[in-house]
Amino acid sequence: MDIRKEYLEFFKNKGHEIIPSAPLVPDDATLLFTNAGMVPFKSIFTGDIPRPTPPIRTSCQTCIRAGGKHNDLDNVGYTARHHTFFEMLGNFSFGDYFKKEAIAYAWEFVTEILKLPKDRLYVTVHENDDEAYEIWQKHIDKDRIYKFGDKDNFWAMGDTGPCGPCSEIFYDQGSEHFNSDEDYMGGDGDRFLEIWNLVFMQFERSSDGSMSPLPKPSIDTGMGLERVTAIKEGKFSNYDSSLFMPLINEVARIANLKYEYESGASFRVISDHIRSTTFLLAQGVNFDKEGRGYVLRRILRRAVRHGYLLGIKEPFMYKLVDKVVELMGEHYEYLKEKKEYVKELIKIEEERFLATISAGLDLFNEELKKTKDIFSGEVAFKLYDTYGFPLDLTADMLREKGLSVDEAKFDELMSKQKARAKASWKGSGDAIKESGDFKALLEEFGENEFIGYDNLKSSSKVLALLNSEFKRVNELKNGEIGYVMLDSTPFYAQSGGQCGDTGLLGKNQILDTKKYFGLNLSTIEAKNSIKIGDILPCEVSLNRLEIRRHHSATHLLHAALRAIIGSHISQAGSSVEADKLRFDFTHPKPISKDELDKIEKFVNDQITIGAKAKIEIMDIESAKNSGAIALFGEKYGDQVRVLTLGCSKELCGGTHVENLNEIGSFFIIRESGVSAGVRRIEAVCSRAALNYANELRSELEEIKIALKGANPINAITKLKDEIKSLQNEIKNANSSVELSPTIINNVSVVIGEFNGDIKAKIDEIKNKFDSVVVFLASKKDGKVSIGAGSKNCNIKAGELVKAIAPIVGGGGGGRDDFATAGGKDIDKIPNALNEATNIIKSKL
Ligand code: SER
Repeated sequence: MDIRKEYLEFFKNKGHEIIPSAPLVPDDATLLFTNAGMVPFKSIFTGDIPRPTPPIRTSCQTCIRAGGKHNDLDNVGYTARHHTFFEMLGNFSFGDYFKKEAIAYAWEFVTEILKLPKDRLYVTVHENDDEAYEIWQKHIDKDRIYKFGDKDNFWAMGDTGPCGPCSEIFYDQGSEHFNSDEDYMGGDGDRFLEIWNLVFMQFERSSDGSMSPLPKPSIDTGMGLERVTAIKEGKFSNYDSSLFMPLINEVARIANLKYEYESGASFRVISDHIRSTTFLLAQGVNFDKEGRGYVLRRILRRAVRHGYLLGIKEPFMYKLVDKVVELMGEHYEYLKEKKEYVKELIKIEEERFLATISAGLDLFNEELKKTKDIFSGEVAFKLYDTYGFPLDLTADMLREKGLSVDEAKFDELMSKQKARAKASWKGSGDAIKESGDFKALLEEFGENEFIGYDNLKSSSKVLALLNSEFKRVNELKNGEIGYVMLDSTPFYAQSGGQCGDTGLLGKNQILDTKKYFGLNLSTIEAKNSIKIGDILPCEVSLNRLEIRRHHSATHLLHAALRAIIGSHISQAGSSVEADKLRFDFTHPKPISKDELDKIEKFVNDQITIGAKAKIEIMDIESAKNSGAIALFGEKYGDQVRVLTLGCSKELCGGTHVENLNEIGSFFIIRESGVSAGVRRIEAVCSRAALNYANELRSELEEIKIALKGANPINAITKLKDEIKSLQNEIKNANSSVELSPTIINNVSVVIGEFNGDIKAKIDEIKNKFDSVVVFLASKKDGKVSIGAGSKNCNIKAGELVKAIAPIVGGGGGGRDDFATAGGKDIDKIPNALNEATNIIKSKL
């Protein structure tokens, strides 16, 4: 039975006009999505636009309930009946029929068309709606009519807009199948399934909450297609119906798992979410950082996480789009048109999230171990900010464990981040640093010591605090961002190309660390309060380990350049971060591919051989005498730190690996020019190298797919050969044009256009005949070439060419037996050929 068709036909026969489904993004700023069948008719209900003729309509409307007033996102997969995307069948009366007819129509459809057994049906009415209560008694026994209050039997589209009391029809799926504590009429269980909601639209709610009567009492009904389909198919869950099982089976196929209802929530979430994702993208909503696009992102990411739970660690959602289109494309043609586009967008979004999901889940699980009731808002924020986990995804993961998240903290951090972004956008110039209290600090405390070469942790005393304007303060209060000066600090201040450390000082976040006029100051975001004199535990972020690997790799790169390119190489700048390094050096020309390979190998060999780092403090003279490389122009103190890393020996104040093995592997990513005589190499090592290799591998996989699995080198060589042979074919096609001679007074005359090598062609023709005159014209790249040749006759090729060349806008001449000329008017070729014919004829 095609329920959509039966429904629309039924109401058409009762005088309703059938209206196609409206877009999921409504023309209504108060709503996130079209969340009910009545949404497209809102302005008719409110009287803002005139009533149509006929004033009764019916539709099968696609709806999204994910965010906003009607939000089913959280229930999806865990109940048998909730969806983010569904289709709602509805009949609407705009001031035409009211309760009596609406109830009678619904009852007729349910019992006579759907043929649902009456002894399975129940209805509810609003506790104050005596009229509906009376009407229903004409159709159904009184003891099957339940009265409920506003919570269950009052329906509103959103916080504002049309609303009214409602009456719902329920289907009893039987106590033999459902018998939880929630399985009673009005409970949250799945046994009594609400299939149809009849809303008696009587009011309009305004933004202050007040309700005014609508111009004409109206009817809005909504029947869930997915629910009725399941009932008709004898299934106890919408997800077991023919609308979902093909999708669930496809997920099972991809995951290589068997679907079982009890443990199958993830399958259901995915099969629901792929429908909303496909429809939203096909209708032009795209993944975004905010608004509707963010809801879409949340839905997709949640599905990807459920895929991950099923062991699917590669993009897969996009593969399900084919099935959605197969199931729904007949009813919604635009899905077919947009299929490939939708798949592409989903795949990209999946890839983005999959890049961070594993690290995010590790962080989540770490924090989970420490969580008693409420999961940390800070970690939830980090999951959001760094790993792309929407808050509701974290909440969803916690719900599975019966836990919740500290949303207030999350919101606070979110607003702070926004404020920070705003502040940094305004910019901070050097002037503000000049006006700060640095001098006073230097006079009072001198430069503070860095103690973080060997320790990532310490207990340090707060010597001074500065506010965001670099003015001294005694305290930074909860949420304030300022600068802290510690007596001794494990946080490395950005210098020598190495970036500044982040981490924790007590519970306060260290956001960055820099040197200001010799002072090592960390940017801090206070939690609760931090005061001068506090002694607090310091913890440098583990990112430092990646930073130091990149720093040591930079030294090896420097040594490699000097060994392979030459000792004229000297450092012109560098930048060392947790995920990349950049090294600028003096050299007049690009480094060749071959040289780069050698450099890369040199560095990797040093890493593989491994050597312990050796650090010596010595005076600058001894350092230089020992062969250590110092940066030209750099000011060093009397005592310097000399770092030996395998074959590299440099003066350096940065942090480094203990053994070169730690670097793992090293890849050069790019070589480029910075300015005259300065080149740049960018490279990655350690974890970033692994990521890079993985990316290359995925790219190669994609190339292989594009080349249909063939070995890429062979396939590309084959393609090149094919192109070459096609080009030759074109050339040959041109040169094999047959030019047949005319005989005039025993002389063979060949005149024509020949788009190829005319000189060769003229020779070829001349060789064929005893007595001959040839005139050829060709065009190439917008220019004309003409040429003539003669043998044993009274025509001089040079004269002929000289006479014709002006016609094609050129000039030239040549020998009696052979001549050529160029011209620029290609459209004059026919004239030139004509004139040549005339001259030749007249002379022979
Ligand atoms: N608008 C009502 C609902 O969504 C009836 O269509 O339940």
